[in-house]
Amino acid sequence: MSSLPNRGPDPLSKVNPFRVMTVMARAQELEAQGRRIVHMEVGEPDYSSAQPIIDAGKKALDAGLTQYTAATGLAPLRESLAGYYEQNYGVEVSPERILITPGASGGLSLLANLLVRAGDGVLISDPAYPCVRNFIHMMSAQPQLIPVGIEQNFQPSVAQLDQYCENNTSGLWLASPSNPTGTILEREDLKAACDWAASKQKHLLVDEIYHGLHYVDDLPSVLELDQSAFVVNSFSKYFGMTGWRLGWIVVPDDYIEMATILAQNLYISASSIAQNAALAAFTPEAKTIFEERRHAFRQRRDYLTAALKDIGFSLSENIQGAFYIYADISRFSDDCEEFCRDLLEEHGVALTPGTDFGDFESKRHVRIAFTTDMDSLVLGVERLSKALLK
Ligand SMILES: Cc1ncc(COP(=O)(O)O)c(C=O)c1O
Repeated sequence: MSSLPNRGPDPLSKVNPFRVMTVMARAQELEAQGRRIVHMEVGEPDYSSAQPIIDAGKKALDAGLTQYTAATGLAPLRESLAGYYEQNYGVEVSPERILITPGASGGLSLLANLLVRAGDGVLISDPAYPCVRNFIHMMSAQPQLIPVGIEQNFQPSVAQLDQYCENNTSGLWLASPSNPTGTILEREDLKAACDWAASKQKHLLVDEIYHGLHYVDDLPSVLELDQSAFVVNSFSKYFGMTGWRLGWIVVPDDYIEMATILAQNLYISASSIAQNAALAAFTPEAKTIFEERRHAFRQRRDYLTAALKDIGFSLSENIQGAFYIYADISRFSDDCEEFCRDLLEEHGVALTPGTDFGDFESKRHVRIAFTTDMDSLVLGVERLSKALLK
């Protein structure tokens, strides 16, 4: 292979692979050898897409709707989403401000291109969803990590925003509910973050991908509080459509044109079949299914948090959304990667090491997902008890 010219330090050298993928690959190898593995590492719902969505997808295929759509997405889907903001949050968002993307991942990469320039700094919490810091690295920018612990519900405070903000900071990226911690920004804290960003003239991006999968009465969208914020969301989690690769972003009026140009260039359009299928996500039949599933996730959360505490994990009393528990393993180990390896190899339980999500106290944390059925969770707890309660 011919060598490329030396262009100085490569920002891509900072882009990390996911350790959870290594865990999943090893779990599959063990399964191929006939072992039963309890999957508590997976970050997607265990249910397949709701039947109305599958039916709508099939219909779209049969009707030959296989062409590109507009870069911003199908107009009826953008209108449905505007209705979703109206109904769920009482907030008016014009469909023009909503762009359909290939997953939240496509939305995050578009917004990174839109908002971040080489040399910028972007404030994010540590721990956070790993792709976020990688998208910032890809722009030759610097993720500015705010360490957040359990005592602050794993969300940054305004005092920390002041403390970690630097001269090059251009924005603040938050997630509520958070992956890996399942905690949210309460309304007043989200408002304080909006006020902070406005007063410091920083852009504010909020990842709301786990909205819908929440177990609290009040989970505000940032758009209720600040219409100048950027929002990322997706059909992957609450709507159960991970493999269709469909999400959306909401941008302020001034950014619609440039966001559209980026969408045209980055991916032309999101999948036409997926968009047509997603139209059925707004039917009452689909909503009933989503709500039943949300209820099942809540029951799993209740069971698992109590069981993990009994075993000796330290964790938040307050898993408010998503399907993750970020558990402190210091009673058992000071090395989460070794801990996860041993649990998988010796006891057939797959967890995600905390080191996937950041640096702050990450070695003494694991992410435990309740994305498997109750019987499997019970088996997982039995195995964890046997392994850890000596
Ligand atoms: C916080 C967060 N944001 C974004 C994504 C990307 O999701 P998708 O591209 O499937 O919509 C994920 C996936 O797990 C996530 O946890």
